[in-house]
Amino acid sequence: MKKLSFLLCVLSMMVLLQFSLSRVSAVTCIQKEREALLQFKRGFWWDPSHRLASWNGTNCCNWYGVGCNQTTRHVIKIDLRSNRLDYSSPLFNNSIDSSLLELKHLNYLDLSGNYFNYTQIPHFLGSMVELTYLNLSNAFFNAKVLPRHLGNLTKLVVLDLSNSYGYSISGVELKQLNRDIEWISHLSSLHFFGLSGTNLSEASNLMQVLSSLPFLSSLILRGCGLQNNQFSFRSMNSSFLSRIQYLDLSVNHFDGPIPKAFHNMTSLKFLDLSDNQFTSIDGGVSSFIFRNNCILKTLDLSYNYDLGGDVFGSYENESMSCSRYDLQVLNLPGTSIQIKIPNWLGKFKNLRSLSLSRSHIYGSIPASLGNLSSLENLYLSSNALTGAIPTTFGKLLNLRKLILGWNRLEELGEECFIQLENLEVLDISHNLLKGVLAEAHFANLSRLNTLLIGDNEHLSLDMKSNWIPTFQLKYFYASSCTDCFGSEFPQWLRTQKALVTLGLSKTSISSDFPIWLRARSLTALDLSHNQIVGPIPTSIGDQMPNLKYLYLNGNLINDSLPLSLCKLKNLTEVDLSSNEFSGMVQGCWLTSNLTILDLSSNNFSGTFPYSHGNLSGIQRLFLGNNSFEGSMPRILKNSKDMEILDLEGNKFSGNIPTWVGNNLENLKCLMLRDNLFNGTIPSSLCNLTSLFNLDLARNQLEGPIPQNLRNFNAMTEQAYVIFSHPREKSIRQSIKSNDLYYSMKQLEVMVKIDLSQNYLVGSIPSEITKLKELIGLNLSHNNLTGTIPAEIGEIESLESLDLSFNQLFGPIPRSISRLNSLGDLKLSHNNLSGEIPQEGHLSTFNEASSFDGNPYLCGDPLPKKCTTKNSFEPRFRHIENQDEEEDKWEKWLFYVMIILGYTVGFWGVVGALIFKRSWRYAYFKFADETKDKIHTTIQWSVERLKRFFLRK
Ligand SMILES: *[C@@H]1O[C@H](CO)[C@@H](O)[C@H](O)[C@H]1NC(C)=O
Ligand SMILES: *[C@@H]1O[C@H](CO)[C@@H](O)[C@H](O)[C@H]1NC(C)=O
Ligand SMILES: *[C@@H]1O[C@H](CO)[C@@H](O)[C@H](O)[C@H]1NC(C)=O
Ligand SMILES: *[C@@H]1O[C@H](CO)[C@@H](O)[C@H](O)[C@H]1NC(C)=O
Ligand SMILES: *[C@@H]1O[C@H](CO)[C@@H](O)[C@H](O)[C@H]1NC(C)=O
Repeated sequence: MKKLSFLLCVLSMMVLLQFSLSRVSAVTCIQKEREALLQFKRGFWWDPSHRLASWNGTNCCNWYGVGCNQTTRHVIKIDLRSNRLDYSSPLFNNSIDSSLLELKHLNYLDLSGNYFNYTQIPHFLGSMVELTYLNLSNAFFNAKVLPRHLGNLTKLVVLDLSNSYGYSISGVELKQLNRDIEWISHLSSLHFFGLSGTNLSEASNLMQVLSSLPFLSSLILRGCGLQNNQFSFRSMNSSFLSRIQYLDLSVNHFDGPIPKAFHNMTSLKFLDLSDNQFTSIDGGVSSFIFRNNCILKTLDLSYNYDLGGDVFGSYENESMSCSRYDLQVLNLPGTSIQIKIPNWLGKFKNLRSLSLSRSHIYGSIPASLGNLSSLENLYLSSNALTGAIPTTFGKLLNLRKLILGWNRLEELGEECFIQLENLEVLDISHNLLKGVLAEAHFANLSRLNTLLIGDNEHLSLDMKSNWIPTFQLKYFYASSCTDCFGSEFPQWLRTQKALVTLGLSKTSISSDFPIWLRARSLTALDLSHNQIVGPIPTSIGDQMPNLKYLYLNGNLINDSLPLSLCKLKNLTEVDLSSNEFSGMVQGCWLTSNLTILDLSSNNFSGTFPYSHGNLSGIQRLFLGNNSFEGSMPRILKNSKDMEILDLEGNKFSGNIPTWVGNNLENLKCLMLRDNLFNGTIPSSLCNLTSLFNLDLARNQLEGPIPQNLRNFNAMTEQAYVIFSHPREKSIRQSIKSNDLYYSMKQLEVMVKIDLSQNYLVGSIPSEITKLKELIGLNLSHNNLTGTIPAEIGEIESLESLDLSFNQLFGPIPRSISRLNSLGDLKLSHNNLSGEIPQEGHLSTFNEASSFDGNPYLCGDPLPKKCTTKNSFEPRFRHIENQDEEEDKWEKWLFYVMIILGYTVGFWGVVGALIFKRSWRYAYFKFADETKDKIHTTIQWSVERLKRFFLRK
């Protein structure tokens, strides 16, 4: 009976299909149904692409997305799907009108990809029992609870409730657990079921229920929180195992070896297990590919980061039964394969996409891959591949993307690209390739839009300046290609009007900044580390209005910044450091989009900024070594994301405002060295719990060192110095836009405090000994008094300690000898007294200069020998031994503190720190196969699949 009704239904759909194909439609519309549709239309409050504009005439059968039975004139189909594949923008609705119930013969309803504002899937849909096709996927319905009421739709062949956004906003969507899935077992006609993004982790009987559906052959359970125990053999009957063809279990919590159950799925054509934590695959991928006459078309195991062992498996044992190979897509990026690419991969003549990026493969690329005559995409980047790029690649005439970057490939068969006229993306960057690429090599590559050749030591380009390429590049990366362009900008770039990213760092260019470089689409420009001279063109704002990333650092660019910079409202990262810029910095181009700004080592002057601007999104600001003046820039008052503030070597003056400590709550490095700051150090600085580098040296600061130093959490615990990695961010962006990305300034930083060369008074706060991660402490050249904290030996990591040129008195604490890493100690020119401790590591300090200028200090390495008499500081002669002495000292201090009632700052001094930063090496990297894209392909095949079932 069921079979019969299904056949009928299929039959009717075939007729429908023919109708919709033949667009001649003499059918007019049933008035009642027309009104219902109009009522339904009213629910859509926004229709940006005006798709419903056609819903106005009398014949509703001609309306967009509406289909009628030509005989009965009943509306049987509504297809308002919005899909990024066909670029239709979504329709917006806050509730589906129940007028649809009037459409009693409706069997096809597709509202996918539209926006329903998290409303419930309406209950009345459960009464539309004629439905055979229902697609509500990705339509922003409330996915918290499964729509049990759909259990009455027993004629459904296709049901898609997938919610691919659900997983990413899992906080909202996945909290509600779905235990009750019994209703699904009523959907006895179902062939295709999509439930992605629904939390099914508590549905222990999931596979029992699903495998009881007699026709189910396609199942999409992406991001459903599934675990191993939900996918056991016991839970699946053998007819399901032999029937299932299309299975997507990506983005779940499966782990361990890939379960044997998959091996019993004998009809499997598509299997996606990506983004799980599988660790091994029994028999390797070959055991999947080479069985059942090689019917598997797609196998995706990507981003199972620990997937290792014999991932490929062997060819000999398995291949016997195959007469042909259907495999089209093999995705293994983001795994731990750790073996060579097997030769037999070259057998798969139907393979269109092979991805082994970031999978820890090594060795040479087998020449047999040149036999993959259908191959369109080959991703092998970010591995340890060596040897030559096989010349056989010249036979891959269908190749569109060839991604070989970030390996150790050495030889480039220059001829091997010449015939690849479908090539769009060529990435051979970051290898050890040598050779010359000339115009002829690119003559046929008219579709090329991405050319990444940079960072190959001995690769060069040989193009005449009047070359007119046949291609229009979007992405061109040739950094570190010192032999590519001579000293001039490549003139052929004039012909490239579509550039998005241009990376020509370290290419020995020494001409003017190219005034002719005009690219409206350009978002990233890296010309750093050349010898570019002259000013930035005054019209830069019009030449490249969409610029986001601008790297000009390490050149000879001079003059003031052009005002047209102010037109670049999207600037996100700007590095102009180490040039010869001068003049004021106007505020108009400082917008909240800016996250990194480096103007250091130029001749900028005036206040910063000179006019009104906004830096509320800034994370790293480098203004060092200029001639900026005025007070601490107030523009930074709301820069809550600030991590590095470097003002060193300027003429900034006035107090360090309290808002630095109170507002810049993520500050990690504060470098105000070599300025004219005065007043006291605000104790609010101690609120900066992430701070690990504080450099206030060489200012005119006075008063005591703040006491609550132990709040510097980053200095007390193992400092996992985590910058919000701009590169990560760029990576994420690139995943969205499938773009290239940069790495940002790499920072090598030390945990340090340097307060030297100020006018600080009081004593050294004993809390400083809690900063166990401190590597450098410099409090020298101040007016600090009191003793050295007895527990100074607690600062285990200390490598450099400079307390010289103060008025410290008392003994050198014995604990100091526990500082095993100490390599640099300066206690000279104080009033320290007693014997220099000789035990432990301290005995290795035999430079008298570490200690001299302390008249009451004695013992090695000072010439003055200790006698019982002079080994004590005059005022405390009665003290018998040093430990006791320290004790007494503390007591004495304690009384002093009480007496002074903490009112007089008694804290001392501070130390030195060095801030090393190795310059950013900016590079581009092609985000080869982004999840997004993979997902798109999957979506795409899902669409086709659903259509396929309808046609069946
Ligand atoms: C149209 O309706 C007639 C009569 O109910 C039916 O036989 C036919 O299969 C229907 N056609 C379609 C395409 O649904
Ligand atoms: C009705 O739809 C047609 C296109 O199908 C359009 O040209 C016309 O402007 C619409 N009329 C109204 C009143 O919206
Ligand atoms: C979405 O629904 C909420 C109530 O659930 C409402 O407040 C909000 O305005 C709706 N959004 C739109 C864009 O209609
Ligand atoms: C499903 O069908 C049963 C029996 O016809 C009916 O009692 C029930 O109300 C229906 N449920 C829904 C949600 O329409
Ligand atoms: C799975 O396949 C193996 C070998 O082909 C067979 O022995 C086993 O019985 C199958 N298990 C099930 C549950 O079908």
